[in-house]
Amino acid sequence: MDFKTLKSEAEREWKALQNLQQPLIQIGLGTCGKAAGAEEVYCAAQKTLQQIGQPGRFMEVGCIGMCYLEPLLAVRKPHGPFVYFGKLDAEKTEKILVSFLRDDDLLKEWAVCTLGEETIDGIPRFEELPMIKPQIRIALRNCGLIDPEDIKHYIARGGYEGLRKALGMHPEEVIREIKASGLRGRGGAGFPTGLKWELAGKAPDPTKYIICNADEGDPGAFMDRSLLEGDPHSVLEGMLIGAYAIGCQEGYIYIRAEYPLAIKRLETAIKQMNQYGLLGQNILGRPFRFQLRIKEGAGAFVCGEETALMASIEGGRGMPRPRPPFPAIQGLWGKPTNINNVETLANIPAILTQGASWFAGFGTEKSKGTKTFSLAGKVKRTGLIEVPLGIRLGEIINQIGGGVPKGKKLKAVQTGGPSGGCIPFDLLDLPVDYESLTAAGSIMGSGGLVVMDEDTCMVDIPRYFLTFTSEESCGKCLPCRLGTRQMLDILNDICAGQGYPEDIALLENINETVQKGALCGLGQTAPNPVRTTLRYFRPEYEAHIVNKKCPAGICKPLFHYAIDVEKCNGCGVCARKCPVRAVRGDKKKPHSIEQDQCTKCATCYEVCKFQAVLVC
Ligand SMILES: Cc1cc2nc3c(=O)[nH]c(=O)nc-3n(C[C@H](O)[C@H](O)[C@H](O)COP(=O)(O)O)c2cc1C
Ligand code: SF4
Ligand code: SF4
Ligand code: SF4
Repeated sequence: MDFKTLKSEAEREWKALQNLQQPLIQIGLGTCGKAAGAEEVYCAAQKTLQQIGQPGRFMEVGCIGMCYLEPLLAVRKPHGPFVYFGKLDAEKTEKILVSFLRDDDLLKEWAVCTLGEETIDGIPRFEELPMIKPQIRIALRNCGLIDPEDIKHYIARGGYEGLRKALGMHPEEVIREIKASGLRGRGGAGFPTGLKWELAGKAPDPTKYIICNADEGDPGAFMDRSLLEGDPHSVLEGMLIGAYAIGCQEGYIYIRAEYPLAIKRLETAIKQMNQYGLLGQNILGRPFRFQLRIKEGAGAFVCGEETALMASIEGGRGMPRPRPPFPAIQGLWGKPTNINNVETLANIPAILTQGASWFAGFGTEKSKGTKTFSLAGKVKRTGLIEVPLGIRLGEIINQIGGGVPKGKKLKAVQTGGPSGGCIPFDLLDLPVDYESLTAAGSIMGSGGLVVMDEDTCMVDIPRYFLTFTSEESCGKCLPCRLGTRQMLDILNDICAGQGYPEDIALLENINETVQKGALCGLGQTAPNPVRTTLRYFRPEYEAHIVNKKCPAGICKPLFHYAIDVEKCNGCGVCARKCPVRAVRGDKKKPHSIEQDQCTKCATCYEVCKFQAVLVC
C-alpha cells in the first residue's frame, strides 16, 4: 500500500472513530496508569457495559500527563465531548458508567474536565485546567490521545508527513531547517541538534549510525518512557528524518530493560513500519533505505553517556571513553554516529511539518521550543508536563503543580536529576532555560523536576543523590570513583552528628577536584547537588555540624520527638498508631514518649491533629 492510500485509509478510520455511534471509552494504560490500578478500572468498565447491555468501544492510550489523578478514564457519548474522571477504582467506575450511560445522568461532581469541540456546562475544558493552560504540547502532541499501538492513529494526526517532506528536500536543507529551529538536545547537555547532524553528515565515512538514547537513568524522571509508551512513532519518525539528513542506513534504539511496556510498543511500531514500507528499501518511494534495531540495556546510569552507550551496544562493558574523537567522527563500531535523546527526536517531525520559525517562536533567544518535565515531589499536581522554555519556575510549581500541599512552605526545587542542583524558593522568578539554570548553579538535565517543602533536609538531599552517583560510578577514573565516595562519607558523618567545621571546606575542595578531574559527565556533574546546597543552604550544614541539629527534622540521630503537654488533649490517636507502643498516657490526659523505645518513625507527628508532637 502506498503512503497516500495508507493516509486516506487512516483518516477515514480516525473520522469514523470521532463519529462513532456508540460510547467510546478511553483509558490511560501507561506504566503510571497501570501502577495506579488502571487495569482494574478497565476490567470494571468492560464488565459494567456488559451488565447494562450497552455496546461501546474501548481504546487504550498513553499518559495524558495528569498522573496525580490516575487511574483516569474518559467517556464519550456520540456527538458529545470526552468527559474525564480521575482517581478511580472499580466501584467508582461502575457507578459513573451506569449513571452516565444507562441513566443519562452525568455525575458532574466527579468529572475532571471535558475534551473535544462540545462542552458540558459546569465542567471545565481540558485546555482550561490550571495544570494544562500554561503548557504547549509539541513532543507530547499525541500522548493520551491516540492508541500508541495503531500506526493509523498517528498517521491520521499528521504522522510521517515530516518524513515525507524531508525526503523531498536535500539532506543539507533538512539540516539547515533543524539548525534554524534552534532545537537543542533534550538529553542533558543541550548541544544544538542541527549542528550535531551536520558534523555527522560531513564525516567522510559512508557507513554511519543513528542512535536513540532511551536509557533515562535519572531517578524520578519518566518523560522519555511516557513518550515512548504514548507515541512511539513520533520518536521513530524523528530517527528516520535524522538518518536521511546525515546519510545513514542503520539505527539503534538503546532502551533500558526496565521499560518493558515502552519496548513492547516500540516493537509493535517497528513491525507496523515494516508492514507499510516505512522501513527497509525505497521508503515512501524514494531511494532511501533504513533499518532499526532495539538494544536493551541493563539499566546502569552511566550507559546513558554516549560513549558508554556505544560500548554497551558493541557488547562490551558500558564504560565511557575520552572524547575526542567525538561520536560524530568515530562512534559505533568506529563509524560516524549521531546520538539523540527521545524527546529531541519527537520534536523533529513537528519542526519539519510546521516549520523552523514556528518552533523557534516558542522559548527564549537561546533556548527555543518547549521542554518536557516529570513534575514530582511535594506538589499538589504531579505529572508529565511540557512547557515553553523560559517559563518561570514559580509558574511551573504554583500554577501547573498547584503549589505545595498541606499548607507547607516551598523550600527548593531540584532540577536535572542526580547531576542537577537545588534552587531555593526565593528564585521562583527564574526563567527555566539552559542559561538561567546553569547560572543558578543547576542544569536542565533531561527534565526531572522535584519540588521540596520545609520538611526536606538540604544535607540529606545531596546525600541521597551522592549515594546514587557513587554507586553508579563505573570506577574507571580515580576522581569520580574515590571523590564521590569521600563526599558521601562526609555527608553521612554530618547527618549522623559527627561532622567537623572543616568538613565544609573539604567538601568544596573535593567538589572541585571531581568536577575538573572526572572523565565523563557522571563524575563532572555529581558534585552539583552538594555545591548548590552549600551555596544556598549553608546555614543548614552549619546547624548540623555546630549545633548538632537537623532543622527539617529528617536526620534521625540529631533529634527526638516529644509531646507538648499544653497542647496534648489525650485523644490517644498517636498511642494507637505508634508501631512500637512508645507513647504512654491515660485517656484525656497529656501523653508522653518513652525515648529509649521510640524508633523516630514520625507517625505520631503525622497523625496528631493538634500539633502537640514536637521535633526537638
Ligand atoms: C552519566 C550520564 C547519563 C546520561 N543519561 C542520558 C539518558 O538517559 N538519556 C539521554 O538522552 N541522554 C543521557 N545523557 C546524555 C547523552 O550522553 C547524550 O548527550 C545525549 O543522548 C545526546 O542527545 P541529545 O543531543 O538529543 O540530547 C547522559 C549523560 C551522562 C554523562
Ligand atoms: S567520571 Fe565516573 S562514571 Fe565517568 S568514567 Fe570516570 S569513573 Fe566512570
Ligand atoms: S495525637 Fe496529639 S493530642 Fe492526641 S494524644 Fe497524641 S499528642 Fe496528644
Ligand atoms: S516517632 Fe514513631 S516510634 Fe516514636 S513515638 Fe512516635 S510513633 Fe512511636
